Amino acid sequence: MSEIQQPPSEDGTATARPETSLSARPVPAGTAPIKAEYLLHPTSTVDGASTSVLNDIGDDDAAEGVTGGSGGDARDNKRRKPNKNDKKERKGANKGRHFPVIREMSIKICKAWETTGLCDRGETCKFNHSWDGYFEIKPSDVYLNPSATLLPDPPYVNEEAQSGVVEDENDLIGKKINLKTVCPVLKDLGYCPYGWRCRFLGNHIKRINDKEGSSKAQKSSEQDKENADAQNGFSSSPSSWSSSKKLGKWELLDFSTNDNEAKGKWKGGETNWIEWETTNKLKRNEYEFPFSKAYLSVVEPDKPFTLNNPKSKFGKSKSHKRKQDVSEEASLNAAVSEEAAFNEEESAFNQNGDSAQEEKGIVVGESEAMDVPLRPEEKKRLNWEGGRYLAPLTTVGNLPFRRLCVDYGATITISEMALAQPLVSGHNEEWALCRRHESEKMFGIQLAGGYANRMVPAAELIRKELYGGVDFVDINMGCPIDLVFNQGAGSALMEAPGRLAKILVGMNRALGDVPLTVKFRTGISNNKPNAHKLIPKFATQWGAGALTIHGRSRTQRYSKLADWEYIKTCADTLRESLADANLPPVPIFGNGDCYSSEGYYEEMEKSGVDGVMVARGALIKPWIFTEIKERREWDISATERLEGIRKYAEFGLSHWGSDTQGINTTRRFLCEALSFQCRYVPIGLLERLPGKLNERPPAYRGRNELETLLSSPFSNDWVKISEMFLGKVDDAFNFVPKHKSNAYGNEEAQG
Ligand SMILES: Cc1cc2nc3c(=O)[nH]c(=O)nc-3n(C[C@H](O)[C@H](O)[C@H](O)COP(=O)(O)O)c2cc1C
Ligand SMILES: [Zn+2]
Ligand SMILES: [Zn+2]
Repeated sequence: MSEIQQPPSEDGTATARPETSLSARPVPAGTAPIKAEYLLHPTSTVDGASTSVLNDIGDDDAAEGVTGGSGGDARDNKRRKPNKNDKKERKGANKGRHFPVIREMSIKICKAWETTGLCDRGETCKFNHSWDGYFEIKPSDVYLNPSATLLPDPPYVNEEAQSGVVEDENDLIGKKINLKTVCPVLKDLGYCPYGWRCRFLGNHIKRINDKEGSSKAQKSSEQDKENADAQNGFSSSPSSWSSSKKLGKWELLDFSTNDNEAKGKWKGGETNWIEWETTNKLKRNEYEFPFSKAYLSVVEPDKPFTLNNPKSKFGKSKSHKRKQDVSEEASLNAAVSEEAAFNEEESAFNQNGDSAQEEKGIVVGESEAMDVPLRPEEKKRLNWEGGRYLAPLTTVGNLPFRRLCVDYGATITISEMALAQPLVSGHNEEWALCRRHESEKMFGIQLAGGYANRMVPAAELIRKELYGGVDFVDINMGCPIDLVFNQGAGSALMEAPGRLAKILVGMNRALGDVPLTVKFRTGISNNKPNAHKLIPKFATQWGAGALTIHGRSRTQRYSKLADWEYIKTCADTLRESLADANLPPVPIFGNGDCYSSEGYYEEMEKSGVDGVMVARGALIKPWIFTEIKERREWDISATERLEGIRKYAEFGLSHWGSDTQGINTTRRFLCEALSFQCRYVPIGLLERLPGKLNERPPAYRGRNELETLLSSPFSNDWVKISEMFLGKVDDAFNFVPKHKSNAYGNEEAQG
């Protein structure tokens, strides 16, 4: 057992530097040993009598149990020409999230006119072909304070933003823009598809008769454009392209929507765009799954393969949902129970099938028709030794967060859990979870599902539609939440080897040379660990390309430490079975409670794993990857932490969009991230290192005001932090985290 798993109280006392009489006295078990000079209520903390000043560790069980990923909020069709389907998806996706009202949206601008300057419907169009009234209600530009302006004390940012504001009361647009602002979408994409709606508009417009600008050249290019329009018969239209790009004294620059051809391509540094034609086909059951059909006809000959997406059923459940204005959770629920309904029969079939075949020792799926699983040499091999693997994290492990972690040194990243059923049903918000940033050099998609008839088609789809954008696909065999477990998915798979075999063998073949990996727990219940029994099969029969074991059972809560002894047993088992079968190495990662560079290397060496996957440690301190990379504990300063927050905001805007909706979404996820980051106790304040994940800090103050602010458990402070980069919120804005990871002594703790 490593140090990280020891109850913290004793060794805390032993190594405490006797700077003051207070710090030499025992701290209650599970309390972070903060130096006395930073404690706010020294007496009550030292005698342990007052728990009210103890910052609660936060409810990680609740956090993991949060359902519905960031895809629901993600602007999955951002950077594409909007179409009818997109609009529907977006509306549905944000239901129940109680986003602040977007005032500009009350003016309904015709999309066709906005993006092309033309509208086929002409006079009969019910949307506006002008921006009249829009700038009266559009909020002012946002100024994302650059790194150089960050300060350790209030106001925390050097307020240079004002200098970019146009002081002209009579200029409706001018007074809303900031000429010094930098649009994060323009920066990443090279153009800004949000056009006039962008809240960083000052970065991509210019004054029409700007003396400094090349007004002459501009004029002649306008003339060219008008001539061209005339030849195309457009010039008679009052709403021509060039006129929709000019407004008042201003001309829009770098506006383009000609980016519909995204399949297999990188756009603005992102890839894995699913084409709407594909999702439409999926919704209508018109997509062909030749491999899945063949495979399933062999392993489930009694069940003719169908996706069962009858339009009527689909439409019905949608309108029903809309009526009720269901929450994201409920829509996940619906997706899962959709799957449940389809799989009910299979379930009964499998229950019998599983045990009978297990007894006979038959590996289902290894039938004559399918040959054996792909031979290892046909798959790309994953060389993950010493990799810095950021765990899959529903909601919080979104693309901007992963991009930040890569910046800090993560080398392996993975999508949030995506459910097989909504993927094969063509739900855009589920496909949005598969998006990858170009900085993610080793990237996987995590899939959850309980049955081969959904998991294999999902794998086939990924291979066909996202080939080149995915380095591996991972099966979630660890998810503990009832919603997933009760459908036979997540950790439920650990006790269903028959189904597992069908899923793994089928997916493995469907994926071609793309490796298939598994992430699992010790078992379902505490006293019955069975991972070590599955491992030889994963490696030698089912062709898993890498394994990750989270050292807890399904029923074990986060309050208990991960079992690294058992992880060692698993690593040994894997190596032995590979050696026995004369197979090349398969990487195995351990997972659980990693919170420091010291912890990372200690666990790795003791257990013999190839690396340690980091989940909550990364949420609380994303720079843990720098610590691991550089093999040191980093006493990061508050302004350095603020710089990380600034980056997250920038990455969020680039991903979710730079208009008001994108800002709102970014703010919400930023606050979600801060609900974890506030739990970081600066190591410079600790009596002994390294810090530990399961230790709660007594109430403390930081070394400067910013450090104190960053430790605040109150959501209004997170909002305040967000305002440094995303602009002011309406008074009505109220952030409630999706979970209670912060949950200390505030209203949310009682709620
Ligand atoms: C907020 C949150 C979301 C999670 N989402 C997923 C997920 O989508 N897929 C998954 O396999 N595990 C998920 N997990 C589990 C983690 O990947 C990891 O296995 C677990 O937190 C243990 O690692 P840690 O001790 O480093 O936090 C989640 C955990 C948390 C706290
Ligand atoms: Zn129109
Ligand atoms: Zn912009």
